[in-house]
Amino acid sequence: MLRRRPFVLGACQPDAPTDFHAPMTLTASEATYTEPHRPQVHFTPPTAWMNDPNGMVFFDGEYHLFYQHHPASTVWGPMHWGHAISPDLVRWEHRPIALHPDAIGAIFSGSAVVDAANTAGFQQGDTPALVAIYTQHSHRGTDTGRDDVQTQSLAYSTDRGRTWTKHGGNPVLPNPPAPGAAPLRDFRDPKVLWHEETQRWVMALAVQDRIQFYGAPDLKAWTFLSEFGADAGAHGGVWECPDLFPLTAPDGTMRWVLLVSIGEGGPNGGSGTQYFLGDFDGTTFTNANPADAVLWLDYGRDNYAGVTWSGVPAADGRRLFIGWMSNWQYAQIVPTDPWRSAMTVPRSLHLVQDASVPGGYRIASRPVEELRALRGDAVTLAGQTIASALDVRGITSVFEGVLTFDLRGAYVPFGLDLANAAGDVYRLRYDPAAQQLTSDRTASGAVGFASDATHLEPRFAPTVHTAPLVPAGDLLALQVVADVSSIEVFAEHGRVVFTETFFPSAPYDTVRLVADGGTAQLAAAMFWPLASIWN
Ligand code: FRU
Repeated sequence: MLRRRPFVLGACQPDAPTDFHAPMTLTASEATYTEPHRPQVHFTPPTAWMNDPNGMVFFDGEYHLFYQHHPASTVWGPMHWGHAISPDLVRWEHRPIALHPDAIGAIFSGSAVVDAANTAGFQQGDTPALVAIYTQHSHRGTDTGRDDVQTQSLAYSTDRGRTWTKHGGNPVLPNPPAPGAAPLRDFRDPKVLWHEETQRWVMALAVQDRIQFYGAPDLKAWTFLSEFGADAGAHGGVWECPDLFPLTAPDGTMRWVLLVSIGEGGPNGGSGTQYFLGDFDGTTFTNANPADAVLWLDYGRDNYAGVTWSGVPAADGRRLFIGWMSNWQYAQIVPTDPWRSAMTVPRSLHLVQDASVPGGYRIASRPVEELRALRGDAVTLAGQTIASALDVRGITSVFEGVLTFDLRGAYVPFGLDLANAAGDVYRLRYDPAAQQLTSDRTASGAVGFASDATHLEPRFAPTVHTAPLVPAGDLLALQVVADVSSIEVFAEHGRVVFTETFFPSAPYDTVRLVADGGTAQLAAAMFWPLASIWN
């Protein structure tokens, strides 16, 4: 059974614009960035609800980040595109809402491109237009039981992303996409790229349990190309938020990467992001791996709907990614106010060889180097034996750590605790016998949030999460970024990633290296407190 998101708002919702311009009940001035659980080095909206990152595009020295946003509330509702701009992926300037719901529907997830050759004809003057391609969702249609509620539309900006105009010919990809065909109930989240060899735009679109590809010369006249995935990968929930891009490994091997988020059935429960490695010839994606192979971008519960920036110059060469740091199982009930949800740190994605996964290649995710600008004075630990526990002096709730452990003679689980005087403790461990990384937030603070019947499984799920991790040699490398209410763990240079949120009753003020019931060999470690991006 395909588990799909119902997108129900309650009372019957007309799609007319005025009905969605409800007075803002939350204003930016209510945000102080010092509220309990407020991340200090992660992007959050000043106030109100946020989910997926959208429309990420680099243009003229600026990174644009749009996001699913319900400005009138801290729970999901009629979606807008919130907007922020950064010169460096670290510090963000909040911008006015870029796209409001209209008579066609609310503004669901999608992408944005630089139309350098003016294929769509939106350009005015010398500056190329930025074009956003997004799903419109008709709440009126959902309320009246229709299936054709999702279509794809365009908006463009001729002033470097400052203001946005909707295309008069919306929707550009109707539902059903071919006349006479049956409507497609889940038909959303277009990710568009320019395919150089075939000289056309390609759209990857999530359609129920598969990805469909469409092509267009001008971003407007889309034709069906192919589909992939009904019989491949994980299918615990409806497929959402695809991305398609090439990556080249250090050994010269090139793969096309197809990212696919699934709303249920992630590696440790709830939402998760899988990926396929293969080939894309401009029309068809061919999986290089067996159909039953599942590769996960992140083993934590809190990295969903992530996609990559378009328009990053070839001279930079990075494939830059950001994800929504939450999970549909509990996103709407986490104890934060006046905002809900953060993004992950921006990461670069790399294709690397790894004999422990099917096909021998996987994606490694690494925090972008720009984040180093936030590092304060380093706390360095020399190689030593950790017998039970060692506090890291001077490091509290917002920090980065780079640790290397020697696995020779390692028998007991070892790792890191984040703790506070109230007795809350989050535990990260590597178990050398089981070759497994574990993330334990069962005692991390608030875990039993009030349930809400609209959720599939309204629990923060106080369970221990695991990831298989086969180190490449005798050393285990861990990089961690902790930020008040989250930890991101990049093990073995990003091959195995854990992104997890937690809500301690008071900020963690103790960072402790631990070995459970024995000893561990620390080879070296450095920790840095990180400065707030909001100061
Ligand atoms: C993923 C998602 C998308 C959809 C958006 C709606 O989290 O369900 O498929 O476009 O959120 O907010």
